[in-house]
Amino acid sequence: MTLIDGKATAAAIKAEIAQEVKEMTARGERAPHLAAILVGHDGGSETYVANKVKACEVCGFRSSLIRFESDVTEQELMQTIERLNADPEVDGFIVQLPLPRHIDEQKVTEAIDPRKDVDGFHPVNVGRMSIGLPCFKSATPSGIMDLLDRYGIETRGKHAVVLGRSNIVGKPVATLLMQKAQPGDCTVTVCHSRTPNIKELCLQADIIVAALGKPAFLTADMVKPGAVVIDVGTTRVPDASRKSGFRLSGDVDFENVAPKCSFITPVPGGVGPMTICSLMKNTLLARKGDLYK
Ligand code: GUN
Repeated sequence: MTLIDGKATAAAIKAEIAQEVKEMTARGERAPHLAAILVGHDGGSETYVANKVKACEVCGFRSSLIRFESDVTEQELMQTIERLNADPEVDGFIVQLPLPRHIDEQKVTEAIDPRKDVDGFHPVNVGRMSIGLPCFKSATPSGIMDLLDRYGIETRGKHAVVLGRSNIVGKPVATLLMQKAQPGDCTVTVCHSRTPNIKELCLQADIIVAALGKPAFLTADMVKPGAVVIDVGTTRVPDASRKSGFRLSGDVDFENVAPKCSFITPVPGGVGPMTICSLMKNTLLARKGDLYK
């Protein structure tokens, strides 16, 4: 069994990006610039955004954090998005989700210029991805594909079972796994809350991507010997022994599943660290401007 080290892989990718940025700036070109809009003071969102800003520093990017209190109006938010869309010095930006209930997340997402949508959430990017056109791929699916690639995991002709059909993980990772590409070329089954025979389908899988947000859902009796298991779960479960008061739990019963696998990602330290890397990759692509001509 090989443990897939997302932390080390993410560090290596960030070092490659930093090198490229160093070469850009040495040629007199402007460094990539990522802006992030953060509304309110949700603990999870604060941490994610702080980590994104930190990753920008590591990569040699400029970053801007634009904060609003949670009573910000949708109109104020839209005006900021329009300003960032028009700012030639901002290559890409994100609006950290979730947003307060009085703001329409879909409307906000669609207000972002697809050429600056480094989260890859705009329907234009989602649509381009689904038909195999150059686009900003969303962070988690793209990070998963990078792990499969960097660990030299053969995907062609394999049966991949995706657990979960969310718009940000399940659906897009299924799309990428079935894409005519390397990694890709899988036969993909997507399971969700209405799938009656999940265990039976999982037992046929060469690759399982667990992204349903149910701690320890995937148990050893559901996994074929030699399978590749990618755990996307990050549920916070209370843990009094931790300073933070919680620990992250994956969707895989790691202790019992790991010995059966050829490759497996841990939680934390697997898919998680890769997601910010994908954002950095997209911001560099946005700066270079060659996705959309
Ligand atoms: N909230 C949780 N994950 C994400 C993400 O990838 N991007 C944004 N903008 N918000 C999130």
